[in-house]
Amino acid sequence: MTDKTILITGGLGFIGQALFARLLETGHNVRILDNLSNASTTADDATAAGVNVRVGDIRDRSACDDAVDGVDGVIHLAAQTSVLPSVEAPEIDLELNGFGTLNILSACNAAGVRRVVCASSNAVVGLVEPPIHELMMPAPVSPYGATKLLAESYCRTFSEIHGMHANALRFANIYGPRSKKKGSVVAKFIKDAFAGQPLTIYGGGNQTRDFLYIDDLIDGVLACLEMPRGGDVICLGSGKPATVHELAIAIQGLYFEWCGNELVIDFQPARAGEIERNYTDPTKARDILNFQANTHLDEGLRKTWEWFTKNMDTLGLQGTSTSDDACTS
Ligand SMILES: NC(=O)c1ccc[n+]([C@@H]2O[C@H](COP(=O)([O-])OP(=O)(O)OC[C@H]3O[C@@H](n4cnc5c(N)ncnc54)[C@H](O)[C@@H]3O)[C@@H](O)[C@H]2O)c1
Repeated sequence: MTDKTILITGGLGFIGQALFARLLETGHNVRILDNLSNASTTADDATAAGVNVRVGDIRDRSACDDAVDGVDGVIHLAAQTSVLPSVEAPEIDLELNGFGTLNILSACNAAGVRRVVCASSNAVVGLVEPPIHELMMPAPVSPYGATKLLAESYCRTFSEIHGMHANALRFANIYGPRSKKKGSVVAKFIKDAFAGQPLTIYGGGNQTRDFLYIDDLIDGVLACLEMPRGGDVICLGSGKPATVHELAIAIQGLYFEWCGNELVIDFQPARAGEIERNYTDPTKARDILNFQANTHLDEGLRKTWEWFTKNMDTLGLQGTSTSDDACTS
């Protein structure tokens, strides 16, 4: 699709910002529905960039009807996005990820919008032996995983009943520029580094994760928007396991290059419930979406690090250190 109008729900968040920038660059019109609850950029900045921003909530059906009116496709990102809050308040998680998704799909169906890409997560499969793939029996172990599974199921249901092309993508651990608000391990290590704080690793550090650079994720999301059918689920990951210790060493190296000081890695006892091994099998994404994660972890981390260094002042990271080792250059 080129020169189309695309709605991004949650488009002011970490992934949404990168997505709207790419869509604008490639000649699309972009509309955003976001309630500002966890926005990483302001509505004014997005508007200045050329986005039509609607401040509203996916739990409000009329806001969804208004937002989808006249669009060619929807990328549905707005959600309750973390495991822990979903355990603490599962009913809110259900309202956002269940009812919110149902509202978006119902609004699309009513308005004749057929193409929907819904952000899901590997949390739907629960505690499994990797590589994670689409044929694994879903067995979520958190309300977040359960409601993402529900959202996937609604995509399938609406595709079956109404002929929509609604597909779900299970994102791996996404990292990259503009992730200042994220609590994920890459953003946390970088923020800790800027504060001159040790990088804390729980357990031995050999636990693996699948880190996917944001630009690669966006390639996959946009390819999914073109899919000629609906009801499918595809995992988007790099397919390459990296250990948390390797990640910490890479951040240590970037920090040393930046200011010449050593950053401490602090090993703490493993936390209960920590997943040991986690990475994705990218075969289906490659076969169906022609997807390939092109960005090597070192390159992606460097780009992410550089974004943080360039934006230190506006991010309020400078001077947050309580450590003598902190670099604020
Ligand atoms: N970042 C990751 O590593 C990752 C991994 C797996 C899945 N996902 C999924 O990708 C999607 C986007 O994640 P992100 O990292 O950009 O999250 P984010 O929190 O940075 O962005 C979410 C955006 O949605 C908005 N929002 C929240 N509730 C809303 C509501 N009720 N109505 C309207 N807007 C609302 C927030 O203000 C925010 O701008 C989410 O669905 C998340 O579950 C992300």
